[in-house]
Amino acid sequence: MKLRLITVIALMSVFVFAPLLDAGENMPPTDPEKFWTYITETNSYKGWGFWPGHVGIYPGKSPHGAYLKLYANSIALKAAREGKSTMPEGAILVKENYGKDKKTLMAVTPMYRVKGYNPEAGDWFWAKYGPDGKVMAAGKPKGCVNCHKAVKSNDWIFTEAK
Ligand code: HEC
Repeated sequence: MKLRLITVIALMSVFVFAPLLDAGENMPPTDPEKFWTYITETNSYKGWGFWPGHVGIYPGKSPHGAYLKLYANSIALKAAREGKSTMPEGAILVKENYGKDKKTLMAVTPMYRVKGYNPEAGDWFWAKYGPDGKVMAAGKPKGCVNCHKAVKSNDWIFTEAK
């Protein structure tokens, strides 16, 4: 009898706690429009932290903006702070690209780690959006991949987290 009660309680706790554990893992699909909705509404990147060592706006290089802001979701931030050499599944970096006036948002370029999505290019989903969310490139764009390949040994990431 007692054993049965324990079993029932154990089973119940799985149902009660599993959704809680899952809450942060509810990751977006690799559909560019749905991904945009995720990073701007469901889990708006403006509420995330900045990439370590890059708080606020800082100068960037071509082909990205003259000025940049680099946001990272909690999964990416945790890994970066722990000094992990590769970003775990679900890590998202969102870069805002600004013009020379530091005010005009030109484009939003995220990278999103999806295990098995594109093993030849570090399993990153890449995208480029206009400031209004218009999809300019998404998925496995050759441009992003071929250039970021230069830092393949750094998990395809140029910017050091420090
Ligand atoms: C010709 C090279 C080049 C191309 C093409 C390119 N990037 Fe980058 N990217 C860089 C460099 C260099 C940085 C470092 C920041 C800087 O100085 O602009 C960077 C930084 C980033 C970052 C911040 C994380 C990091 O790696 O430092 C993201 C996110 C990013 N790029 C996304 C993209 C996406 C998405 C595309 C395609 C739409 C793309 N990039 C195309 C060179 C490139």
